[in-house]
Amino acid sequence: MPVACGHFNIFAMSKKVYIETYGCQMNVADSEVVVSILSENGYEHTNDIKEAGLILINTCSIRENAEQRIWGRLKAIGHLKKKDKRILIGLIGCMAERLKAKVLDAEHLVDMVVGPDAYRDLPSLIGEAGSGHRAINVLLSREETYADISPVRMDKNGITSFVSIMRGCNNMCSYCVVPYVRGAERSRDPESIRSEVEDLRAKGYREVTLLGQNVDSYRWKTDDHITTFPDLLERVALIDPLLRIRFSTSHPKDLSDELLRKMSEHPNICRHIHLPAQSGSNRILKLMNRDYTREWYMDRISTIKVIMPGCAISTDIITGFCTETEDDHKETLSLMEWAGYDFAYMFKYSERPGTRAAKKYSDDVPEETKTKRLNEIISLQNKLSARSKKQDVGRVFEVLIEDFSKRSHDHLSGRTSQNKVVVFPGKGRRKGEYVNVKIENSTSATLLGNII
Ligand code: 5AD
Ligand code: SF4
Repeated sequence: MPVACGHFNIFAMSKKVYIETYGCQMNVADSEVVVSILSENGYEHTNDIKEAGLILINTCSIRENAEQRIWGRLKAIGHLKKKDKRILIGLIGCMAERLKAKVLDAEHLVDMVVGPDAYRDLPSLIGEAGSGHRAINVLLSREETYADISPVRMDKNGITSFVSIMRGCNNMCSYCVVPYVRGAERSRDPESIRSEVEDLRAKGYREVTLLGQNVDSYRWKTDDHITTFPDLLERVALIDPLLRIRFSTSHPKDLSDELLRKMSEHPNICRHIHLPAQSGSNRILKLMNRDYTREWYMDRISTIKVIMPGCAISTDIITGFCTETEDDHKETLSLMEWAGYDFAYMFKYSERPGTRAAKKYSDDVPEETKTKRLNEIISLQNKLSARSKKQDVGRVFEVLIEDFSKRSHDHLSGRTSQNKVVVFPGKGRRKGEYVNVKIENSTSATLLGNII
């Protein structure tokens, strides 16, 4: 039995770290950077929270309910610390950045608070927290991209992975907390991106998603050369025609024809663009400070369809933003119908303290109205998604096999270039292989087919 002496322990605590990740894919990529930094310092990653001496929660602040969920989780984890006081709990990521020292004060649930640009400082913060001091670093940086750190992959399939190409955001959408919690936009050295992708390929990965808050504004300048996002995408696509490349997220104001043309020249750049509209009403788009109009957005979609017929398009929608009327809402519905999205993430507006919208506008759409509008948007999108899948029936798609299907080991699961999940019988086939699948049927979430 370990013996505790005051708050110092004479037995070293387990150097195993458990990390739980909330929020976007960027956070998933960050958790892999965190584990890499810690493994350089003698920590071993574990998926079992019960054997961990260090528990990290990588958090999201995008909506209030994301934060509430995390508070609930912290309270639940608190019982582990009651059993063994030596366990250290760290809150890292966007919520750490937003709430700063307030998190340390709140009910003493955590031992350290670390913002998204301070992960290199984790080993010393762990030391401080371990000797009973308040450990906090929430400094944002203008340079940090963790470019030199090789993330420790924690994905389940070993086939698809994320690579962060930039951090932060300069857009200042009025509803959004991201610029405050992730700081100013900075791009990562293209050479370090290329070498990370090469490394993934060598390890057997077959798909890489390039991540940034607004990938279209990626820019790397040297004395005599500027690398833009289309340049970077092409460079990565040329590494191996059998390596699929995806990217997220595009901003409609910056989505260029040049990018679309580059995509169309390389079949391994996937035929899918996530293009958040947020609203279909020009008045609301202006209040959101999105910097484009409904007409501009529609032009971008028309151009995608001309340059890359068959390219899937998905979106994000916020419903119930400040002052949104029934007419504004109808404009969002009509834009969705017109665009015929293959997929959408849909949210009720959630006021975030400190944002421009919180300061300037009143969150005046009643909760019941937000709920009603969200339900209408979801039911329209369900119809559009079903229609998009029906249109695929009878067609043949190249599918990258990612795993067994959830229901049976006789069936495999993978995705089309358009990012649609396909399930099919696949005896003798293995993950990482490409197969041509004829679509025979569809369910609400999945295409069903057979290898041809
Ligand atoms: N309330 C609701 N949804 C939001 N998003 C960003 N901020 C908010 C907010 N305050 C949504 C946007 C964005 C996605 C990642 O989250 O749709 O594109
Ligand atoms: Fe990602 Fe934004 Fe949530 Fe941070 S606040 S985890 S950047 S979605």
